[in-house]
Amino acid sequence: MSFPQHRPRRLRTTPAMRRLASETKVAPSDLILPVFIREDLSEPKPITSMPGVVQHTTASLILAARDAVALGLGGIMLFGIPAVRDAQGSAGTDPFGVLNKAIRDVRAAVGDELVIMSDLCLDEFTDHGHCGVLDANGVVDNDATLEIYAKMAVAQAAAGAHVVAPSGMMDGQVAVIREALDDAGYTSVSVLAYAAKYASAFYGPFREAVDSQLQGDRRSYQMDPGNRREALHEVELDLAEGADIVMVKPAMSYLDILADVAAMSPVPVAAYQISGEYAMIEAAAANGWINRRGAIEESVLGIKRAGADMILTYWAAELAGWLRD
Ligand code: PBG
Repeated sequence: MSFPQHRPRRLRTTPAMRRLASETKVAPSDLILPVFIREDLSEPKPITSMPGVVQHTTASLILAARDAVALGLGGIMLFGIPAVRDAQGSAGTDPFGVLNKAIRDVRAAVGDELVIMSDLCLDEFTDHGHCGVLDANGVVDNDATLEIYAKMAVAQAAAGAHVVAPSGMMDGQVAVIREALDDAGYTSVSVLAYAAKYASAFYGPFREAVDSQLQGDRRSYQMDPGNRREALHEVELDLAEGADIVMVKPAMSYLDILADVAAMSPVPVAAYQISGEYAMIEAAAANGWINRRGAIEESVLGIKRAGADMILTYWAAELAGWLRD
């Protein structure tokens, strides 16, 4: 008689057995909710390409932050959309600018009960939509941008951010931000570095979410989607510059990168399940082509399995609710 040497199906017999044998579990504290706050808004404004996600008013943002605490989320990542933009992105460094004000409001509402993170980039604040300021030829000027990032970091820390998250992919951004924070006395404020951030088509809906003014693309500063080895180089540079957490972004089309980074990083690794990843699943689910909850849970589980210690996802609150059921 021939028989299999081992029968893995034995550990799949009952829900209890499968739960016991599961290798990967997602917890609410692994999840970070990205949120958008828009200046001069009287009520929350839905984002068409991200069904279920809104541009917040101050009041609705505070409710979302309190809800995040109640759900036990790991953190919240704030993005600001100013009423007025200029070439230098001045609203980003203004202590009363929309993002810095939102950080202050959220910190006042939830204190240290939730890790408050802020996007540190110029694209929401510039009238040309690039992540940095431009030189005379219209090229993003790395070092001139770093000077502004340093000021933004201090403004965000002063407003109460626990973590600042540089997402502009300027060379040297982590070092400059770390030094500026330390010089201003914010030695305890952490830097979450968007270390391996790719020039992705999946950012599409985000551009609507922040009313982006961008013409063209970000290929002169974000990574080429075909480059794998270079991601490790970017991570090593950010670690040497003092990054406390390193991120891979997007997530689902970059799980190999995530696994590579998780295998070598001595610090926690984050992954960002971005707007286009959200929109794809929502659109398929809305058409009845996919099981919505199953697809959401599986997509986030896969990101965790690949090596993410923490995951930014627009489903963070909903997922945490399901995990509690
Ligand atoms: C830059 C930034 C972007 C996202 C997060 N930070 C946009 C970009 O690089 O074009 C995208 C997030 C998403 O698509 O969900 N401030």
